Amino acid sequence: MNDLIEPELAVPDVRDIFPASREHTYLSTCTRGLLPVPAREALIAHLTELETGTTDKAALFEKVETVREAFARLIRCHRDEVAFTKNVSEGLNIIATAIEWQAGDNIVVCLDMEHPNNVYPWLNLRDRAGISVRAVPPRNGHVDADRIIAEIDERTRLVTLPTVSFSPGFRTDVAAISRVCRERGVFLLADAVQSVGVLDTDVEDLGVDGLVVSTQKGLCGLYGMGFLYCRRDWAERFTPAYLARFGVDLGEDAHEASLGSDEISLMPGARRFDLGNYNYPGVVVAEQSLSILNRIGTRTIEAHVTDLSICLIDGLLDLGLTVAGGAPGRHTSSIVCIGELGRGHDTSDDPGIASLSSHLTKADVVHSIRRGMIRFAFHIYNSKNDVDRVLNLSRDWYRVQP
Ligand SMILES: Cc1ncc(COP(=O)(O)O)c(C=O)c1O
Repeated sequence: MNDLIEPELAVPDVRDIFPASREHTYLSTCTRGLLPVPAREALIAHLTELETGTTDKAALFEKVETVREAFARLIRCHRDEVAFTKNVSEGLNIIATAIEWQAGDNIVVCLDMEHPNNVYPWLNLRDRAGISVRAVPPRNGHVDADRIIAEIDERTRLVTLPTVSFSPGFRTDVAAISRVCRERGVFLLADAVQSVGVLDTDVEDLGVDGLVVSTQKGLCGLYGMGFLYCRRDWAERFTPAYLARFGVDLGEDAHEASLGSDEISLMPGARRFDLGNYNYPGVVVAEQSLSILNRIGTRTIEAHVTDLSICLIDGLLDLGLTVAGGAPGRHTSSIVCIGELGRGHDTSDDPGIASLSSHLTKADVVHSIRRGMIRFAFHIYNSKNDVDRVLNLSRDWYRVQP
């Protein structure tokens, strides 16, 4: 769908609507993306309406549907396959609690490469429902598709993975795993918060059955809002663990406060997972941010960030620094990490990494440390100048190392 639309926004123009990208070297989209100016303006207008008692609820509901459609367009699914959530964790838990588990069922996951928010839902189910969590070891920081596939058996109900790990930021070979999941009727659930908005995403090509994101990273939105994609045929077999008015089908024209009969008719597809009132500040922001991302086109964004990642990796390797994953390859995403996979978030046990990080911070290069590595992440508002700055600063730092 995206490809049929001529990009209406070019990359240089876009930097004008993310002014902070000109003020610092902002390389931290993997923690949170920059808010575009039109999104801030829309949020202020929304707050002003709340302050002055002029909120138009019908207009807000329309925005909810515009945003649902925009998100569907971004990942190429139908709008009825999209539910609104608070964050990644809520999307994962919605699926985890919609499946009717039998004791002895199992799920397959590479726990070591997951963000904790895609670990605890499964440990909880292990303790509450008696499922077994089959933890597959990583291979050199990669979620290993062959190892995941080898663990799938007749009691496997679900496989979960990150499309891109939060650190070291490697892409997972989702399509290889999805082929096996499809054959065996296993639900494939992706934590895609480190890829959606930054890397081109087509849920059909990926072959996922469920996909979760929150809006504060690649979607350049607010904390406290996210989306759940659930393939329609799966969603319609699920009964949500939580149910409220917007998950119940009372017809399009029914008021939000209407109560139907006690025979429940669930909304089609993933809409059954919507609960009550939405995060409207998050919605008005997402309307602007998603419109910008869709107008640029995620193929353009992916090409841009991948180019920057490759330039940065090549430059860092030329300086003699250790880059996670080595030379660019199929694993390369919008995230580049320096150092060895280790311990420490925000700080690193490796004194060299800690020292380089503090050198970069003093020079206003906004970055993060996760799993002991320095993490840089690109988005559409980054440029080759950002790569050059990091390389020049790293070279200066390297020269004075004992
Ligand atoms: C891969 C990944 N999953 C999940 C999260 C966060 O989860 P939530 O949106 O539930 O806070 C992050 C980072 O914040 C992440 O990098």
